[in-house]
Amino acid sequence: MKALHALDRHLALAGFMGSGKSRAGRVVAARTGRPFVDLDEEIAARSGSSVAELFAARGEAAFRELEEQVVQDVLSGGDPVVVALGGGAVVAERTRALLRARAFTVLLDVDPETMWERVAGSDRPLVTSEESFRALHRERQPLYDDVADGRAHDVDGILLAAAGVQVEPGAVDELGDLVPGDGPVELVADAHVSGIHGIRAQVGLGARDAALHEVPAGEPAKTAAVLERLWAHFAIGRDGSVVALGGGSTTDVAGLAAATYMRGVAWTAVPTTLVGQVDAGIGGKTAIDLPGGKNVVGAFHWPARVVCDPSLLTTLPEPERRNGLAEVVKTGLLAGLPLWERSELDQVRACAAFKSGVCLGDPHDRGARNQLNLGHTFAHALEAAAGYGLPHGRAVALGLLAALRLSGLDDAVRTVKTVLAPEPVAVDAGRAWAALARDKKAERGAPRLVLLNAPGKPRWGVEVPEADVRRALEELIA
Ligand SMILES: NC(=O)c1ccc[n+]([C@@H]2O[C@H](COP(=O)([O-])OP(=O)(O)OC[C@H]3O[C@@H](n4cnc5c(N)ncnc54)[C@H](O)[C@@H]3O)[C@@H](O)[C@H]2O)c1
Ligand SMILES: [Zn+2]
Repeated sequence: MKALHALDRHLALAGFMGSGKSRAGRVVAARTGRPFVDLDEEIAARSGSSVAELFAARGEAAFRELEEQVVQDVLSGGDPVVVALGGGAVVAERTRALLRARAFTVLLDVDPETMWERVAGSDRPLVTSEESFRALHRERQPLYDDVADGRAHDVDGILLAAAGVQVEPGAVDELGDLVPGDGPVELVADAHVSGIHGIRAQVGLGARDAALHEVPAGEPAKTAAVLERLWAHFAIGRDGSVVALGGGSTTDVAGLAAATYMRGVAWTAVPTTLVGQVDAGIGGKTAIDLPGGKNVVGAFHWPARVVCDPSLLTTLPEPERRNGLAEVVKTGLLAGLPLWERSELDQVRACAAFKSGVCLGDPHDRGARNQLNLGHTFAHALEAAAGYGLPHGRAVALGLLAALRLSGLDDAVRTVKTVLAPEPVAVDAGRAWAALARDKKAERGAPRLVLLNAPGKPRWGVEVPEADVRRALEELIA
């Protein structure tokens, strides 16, 4: 059986010579915060000579033996790494078995012309003529297909595959193939979304045995009562899975139902909002609200698959789209790229890949994942002060302003103003401050925030004097 994602597994990059495994691997390692191992470099370091020298001095068989040993050592390690395999590493049956057992393997699928252009004239062993290059590629293709758990053309594609995220217009029509396994499905859908896209999703599920459960549209779905109803109505065994069709509210409650039912069954998120596709559907945080606060009860439960189909967004009302754009701006600032200027499909792809990378490196939010809270300390305080009547996206736009002002980044402040046009909100300043202080009380002392040194250079856990935080918050209030 193929692995579903690279959570708790090594992420191995396979592909023919010239496919760009080493270069992509280095970037993927940086984006996930995982250590990087370049197999050929590791072999060279251990043997004290280059791959070309090894081939020349000891022959291919001796090289392959050493390669197998190094793969075994690297993949036996407990902490997940990113490893760029040598082009021929998959020839060894033992290596393929190890990859199946311990890694999620992404095949870098590059056309042979491009790869030949890259390697022609290099000192790589086995590169003699274009003809032999192509023949070797054809010969190895079945082995690459055998080890590939996912395929990608670029770094974002690798990160998406590694997180189990599929971004593709029309993907919902193939839902039956995308939901892992072949067991029965509990389809949980936002009641409003169900009326718009429910039939399409059910047709997409094809021959899969599926029962539909409607939950209230939007935030009211995130209650203990709704969760309990789902538990009571689910009838799947451990071979079944939950499919959530809706925005972040639906994926949050359905994901928590999947995390807890039978001590955890697999689930697939099919986010139908921009917020869901760029943010909420990814990373495995699930939750419901209590009267005392948002997301108080939840679980980390990584979705087996996330199906982001931008064609589902065509029916999204404008205010909901703006909510999503605030998260796109947040992600763009964290990534250091003006993602908000891209087409919607590219926004979804880039943001989903960014979040995938961060969450794969820190699934339980103990470090780097904190950065995704940029602007959110202020946003949550304003939302609480407004009794949760303030749309999250509007609150995030304001929160970003405050975080960027405290970061001293005037250009980024201007960007947020131009793209998101945030208007101060009329809430009680005392209530907002109390909510912010409560939000941060677990850390004691001065509030700690996510700030940016520059776009693309976030730092988290930054201690900021209380008076400055208070002033920044008050600037957001009409
Ligand atoms: N788990 C996470 O990592 C994470 C991250 C961000 C946000 N969230 C949570 O997500 C929730 C917000 O989710 P959201 O902003 O995606 O919205 P939502 O699920 O609350 O839905 C908002 C509204 O949009 C409607 N809608 C959804 N898809 C539609 C479509 N395709 N066409 C027409 N209408 C559609 C819904 O019926 C609803 O009325 C919050 O509860 C937040 O806490 C979770
Ligand atoms: Zn948010």
